[in-house]
Amino acid sequence: MGTPLRLALIGTGGRGQIYADVLRRLPPGLAEWGALCDHNPEILQAFAARNGLGVPLVYEVGDLLRRDDLDAVLICTPDSAHRAPAVACLEAGLHALVEKPLATDPADAAAICAAARAAGRILHLGFVLRYDPCVCRLRDLVAGGAIGRPIACMVHEAVGWFHAATYMRRWNRFRRYSGDLLLHKGCHTLDLVNAVTASYPRRVAAFGGTAVFVPRADAGDRCDRCDRTADCLYVADQGEAYRKRFYDTAGPQVLPEPVCVYNVDKDTTDTVTLIADYDQGMRLSYTMTLVSPRGERRLVLVGTGGEIRCDLSTYRIELSRLPDRPTEVIEVARPSGAGHQHHDLALLQHFLERIRDGDDPSAGIRDAAMSGAVAFAALESMASGVPVAVPPA
Ligand SMILES: NC(=O)c1ccc[n+]([C@@H]2O[C@H](COP(=O)([O-])OP(=O)(O)OC[C@H]3O[C@@H](n4cnc5c(N)ncnc54)[C@H](O)[C@@H]3O)[C@@H](O)[C@H]2O)c1
Repeated sequence: MGTPLRLALIGTGGRGQIYADVLRRLPPGLAEWGALCDHNPEILQAFAARNGLGVPLVYEVGDLLRRDDLDAVLICTPDSAHRAPAVACLEAGLHALVEKPLATDPADAAAICAAARAAGRILHLGFVLRYDPCVCRLRDLVAGGAIGRPIACMVHEAVGWFHAATYMRRWNRFRRYSGDLLLHKGCHTLDLVNAVTASYPRRVAAFGGTAVFVPRADAGDRCDRCDRTADCLYVADQGEAYRKRFYDTAGPQVLPEPVCVYNVDKDTTDTVTLIADYDQGMRLSYTMTLVSPRGERRLVLVGTGGEIRCDLSTYRIELSRLPDRPTEVIEVARPSGAGHQHHDLALLQHFLERIRDGDDPSAGIRDAAMSGAVAFAALESMASGVPVAVPPA
């Protein structure tokens, strides 16, 4: 097996903690921490103490790059702070696992991909759904020709109402931090469309905006200063039940102020419909709504030889083949472990395998570039009112 790959973690917040947990679950000898980096000393020191990690702690990425004992970095800084560490580390010859979305604007995404290409290093993204057993099965079915050549994909990105409201009380509601919820939330699904259909987008036209969380004159600016809380779905009463549901949904972070989800400042969209033209003759229609009863990803994939229907949360795939074959129901075994623990482990193992096997970085860089391409083009199309071409990767 050789010596363990030495990793540095950049950004020791919530997602960084997941990787600390995952590293402990890896088969022994695959990888070990070489250093930890966070620009917040308190967070960094608490992280190292909590996880019992006696490795060098640095506050600046530049200090990591002066070390000569690292193979790769895991970049878990906020969405809008991926470019600088990713480019610096790739240029220094390190492989990089960058959390999703790759970046919050097209220029940053392109700069990271260009750095990976120039350095010939692996750029791997944190798209956990690629490791979901249901998505893997969909990918195998399509690659195996179960529906012929994919020609149309219809997706409903149904974001649950409670989850949606947490976004309105977090940084995610501002494009400068998240790139828009279409990117921050939608990129998982848009990446899996690329992966399952083995195609890349070329042109996008989109309509959308803020349709649900729009200002209301009859509501206050906070739930504790509002007369309408009795009939408000989104009231943040900050009580035990709300607190638990918030943490379970949004992660272990400080419970935010009970600001009004309607009246709080924001510039994200909350409702988008887009169409996209892909290479290989595939077309996508995708709708994101933020007020669904449950968070679901509903997908219909039509090919020249059949059709697949799937709601990813059910782990149940319906496959209908032409001409008149009875629908085959495929029950996919649910992964073990809470949340996406299974996917997180598989993701990190795949990244490490790619480094060990000397994988050609080019396909992964193209996947990374294309993972945000539909969202970026859709936002441009919504602003300009015309279809937008996706730059080739
Ligand atoms: N793949 C997934 O399923 C998944 C799940 C959750 C989060 N994420 C992504 O992971 C990333 C991190 O999210 P999080 O929830 O851990 O955020 P977080 O705010 O909990 O942690 C980010 C950390 O980065 C540090 N930081 C910020 N800028 C820095 C810099 N320039 N140098 C060093 N440290 C810096 C902050 O101090 C903080 O500790 C985001 O891009 C997020 O979208 C992905």
